[in-house]
Amino acid sequence: MDRIRLVGGNELRGEIPISGAKNAALPLMIASLLTDEPLVLQNVPRLADVKQLERILENHGVDIAVHGRRRGEEDAVGQRMTFHAADIVDTTAPYDLVSKMRASFWVIGPLLARCHEARVSLPGGCAIGTRPVDLFLFGLKQLGATIDIDDGYVVARAPKGGLRGAHIVFPKVSVGATHTILMAATLAKGTTIIENAAQEPEITNVAECLVAMGADITGIGTRTLKVVGVDRLHGASVDVIPDRIETGTFAMATAMTGGDVLLRGARAEHLDAALAILGQTGAQISVEGNGIRVRRNGNGIQPVDVDTDPFPGFPTDLQAQFMALMTMSTGVSKIRETIFENRYMHVAELARFGADIHVDGQLATITGKSQLKGAQVMATDLRASVSLVIAGLAARGETVVNRIYHLDRGFERLEDKLSRCGAEIERLAG
Ligand code: UD1
Repeated sequence: MDRIRLVGGNELRGEIPISGAKNAALPLMIASLLTDEPLVLQNVPRLADVKQLERILENHGVDIAVHGRRRGEEDAVGQRMTFHAADIVDTTAPYDLVSKMRASFWVIGPLLARCHEARVSLPGGCAIGTRPVDLFLFGLKQLGATIDIDDGYVVARAPKGGLRGAHIVFPKVSVGATHTILMAATLAKGTTIIENAAQEPEITNVAECLVAMGADITGIGTRTLKVVGVDRLHGASVDVIPDRIETGTFAMATAMTGGDVLLRGARAEHLDAALAILGQTGAQISVEGNGIRVRRNGNGIQPVDVDTDPFPGFPTDLQAQFMALMTMSTGVSKIRETIFENRYMHVAELARFGADIHVDGQLATITGKSQLKGAQVMATDLRASVSLVIAGLAARGETVVNRIYHLDRGFERLEDKLSRCGAEIERLAG
């Protein structure tokens, strides 16, 4: 298993190109199941999770092509890809494929809408709590589907004539359930209202893609989505939005090491809450024409309290990285994780750097230290892993992060991007 070796202490200085968002690319790829025409996606990040979803889509019969770069794009991150589901040859998503990544469960919506049946294994993914699928099943049932659980599989069938529009009020905000029901509703008969929908920018990216494919959706970007079903969708060409979690991660890394980094292509409106909090810690944030600039010049890191919340709140996917930053603040800060019940696996690993963190249920209390010390640590889940890299960049001496396959699921060219900004970081094979 590959490892990452870092020697901390260097300030980050330079420019980092922000990749396409993993959490937008995955559902956009899944949307290709809704039409027999090609869906072209620009700026798809090269990540293990994308590769994994390609395998799943190919199993359903999707033809996938990766296109070369155009002149002038040689330095671009991401890739242009076409997904063509001319025929769905198999409506089963098997355990060995779905268990590796939770988002692959989302194929259930488009498969059910287009083929009127789907058999999808219960999902896997990062072990950050129980992560049930009750909201998905609730929404699909409202659209008229019958659901059985058979041998670890969800077996869903649409009523005769296909799914039917419905008024769905989600009892809890879920990104995945919103994506899935939104996609399913585009081909349902009649009108669907989705209340308490997730508002994340990735939902907007997918909703706008569906509209480009011929869907009738209003309320995009709000808590209430209205979908008037259409008979069929067609092909389209859509850009994957820049990754706000990658942006926030590098912003926090810069705030922690000090320095001056331009996050090229990043969109500030996708992470207002996180940027405001970073500003309170003493980092200087400025929005420039081609991205976001983050600076911190020698001043101490101020302690700031944070609760994670659905968008537009502070994202749970930046909680671990922010905690890394707070381990070097000049005082005591509190973080409350409100989205997932078990998302503090990085705490024990951050302690290896000498961090002082006390967890009581959903609340973590972090007493800042003036210096961390490099350590041997273990990556546990995707975002937790990168918090260890950030801590290592700021710590004195050598850090080795083991089990970095989690990082490869969600961060494109991480070592390359950081080393170009002055970090001493390398991948050790095997
Ligand atoms: C997505 C993101 C993930 C992010 C999360 C929250 C992708 C690929 N992943 O995950 O990076 O951390 O949003 O912003 O986009 N829940 C239920 N029942 C359900 C579904 C969810 O109780 O049927 C709960 C979950 O356990 C969790 C909360 O709802 O406590 C939010 O989860 P959800 O928004 O669904 O997360 P994901 O879509 O899995």
